[in-house]
Amino acid sequence: MRSAPFAAVFLSLVTLATSQDVNLTTVKETFDDANIPANATITFEPSVLFELTFPQTSGAPVAVHAGIQLPRNATAGPPTFSVRDIKLSPIQPLVIAAVDLDAPTPQTPTRAQIRHFLGGNFFASDSGELLNSTAAVSEFRQPTPPAGSDPHRYVFLLFNQPRGFNEQTLVNATTSVQNFNISQFAADVGLGNPIGGTFILVGPDPTA
Ligand SMILES: *[C@@H]1O[C@H](CO)[C@@H](O)[C@H](O)[C@H]1NC(C)=O
Ligand SMILES: *[C@@H]1O[C@H](CO)[C@@H](O)[C@H](O)[C@H]1NC(C)=O
Ligand SMILES: *[C@@H]1O[C@H](CO)[C@@H](O)[C@H](O)[C@H]1NC(C)=O
Ligand SMILES: *[C@@H]1O[C@H](CO)[C@@H](O)[C@H](O)[C@H]1NC(C)=O
Ligand SMILES: *[C@@H]1O[C@H](CO)[C@@H](O)[C@H](O)[C@H]1NC(C)=O
Ligand SMILES: *[C@@H]1O[C@H](CO)[C@@H](O)[C@H](O)[C@H]1NC(C)=O
Repeated sequence: MRSAPFAAVFLSLVTLATSQDVNLTTVKETFDDANIPANATITFEPSVLFELTFPQTSGAPVAVHAGIQLPRNATAGPPTFSVRDIKLSPIQPLVIAAVDLDAPTPQTPTRAQIRHFLGGNFFASDSGELLNSTAAVSEFRQPTPPAGSDPHRYVFLLFNQPRGFNEQTLVNATTSVQNFNISQFAADVGLGNPIGGTFILVGPDPTA
């Protein structure tokens, strides 16, 4: 079924400890193997290693590499973001978007994409952390695949922020998160192609 390629991606990575990505070639291949550019209708040629980290109520934060499966209860968030091995201009604002491509199930994604985060005005610090001081356009929503679903692909993308982004009126905190389309939104507000990205797989809570 449709979940087979994801399972393969997962198995090839599961032997690695949860950790950050090491190179862009691997990230791009992982996106391609999971059909993300095709399913999200994006051109994904990353130039930046984009890292996603989930804080935990107890214990160390979980830093993810592209394609890893996380238990839902590790994804409460909100996540933090950083870039590696590259110095981004500290005055270039950045936009981060996250979408679920597989709602309600990967086999029948009739509500996809679900918007799980949209925020602008992130700026790279010297250490590579992406820091924001303005409210997100659309606040982070924890992955919540329905009981019985195969794991969903939650894709996080980093864009250079175009002039005028803060004045966009297509999405606000009350805009429905369902049937979002990141490539359409990117075209409408002039985001261009993502400069980096990562994704996680999350299945339903075992108790769901
Ligand atoms: C990226 O990582 C892969 C897998 O570890 C390795 O085979 C490849 O040589 C690396 N490429 C670069 C440019 O570091
Ligand atoms: C994703 O793309 C693959 C390959 O083009 C296709 O078989 C599959 O139906 C697509 N899935 C979704 C959720 O769009
Ligand atoms: C998540 O749930 C598992 C059991 O399903 C448990 O072992 C683990 O400690 C929980 N983690 C968090 C962060 O709550
Ligand atoms: C900043 O980004 C986080 C996600 O990392 C988000 O939850 C938050 O609402 C944003 N804004 C502020 C002021 O923190
Ligand atoms: C938020 O966006 C919706 C359309 O998605 C629009 O109907 C509504 O008026 C907007 N709300 C505000 C406060 O701008
Ligand atoms: C999203 O928008 C793009 C560009 O308009 C379109 O090609 C694609 O089919 C749309 N995807 C979905 C899931 O509606």
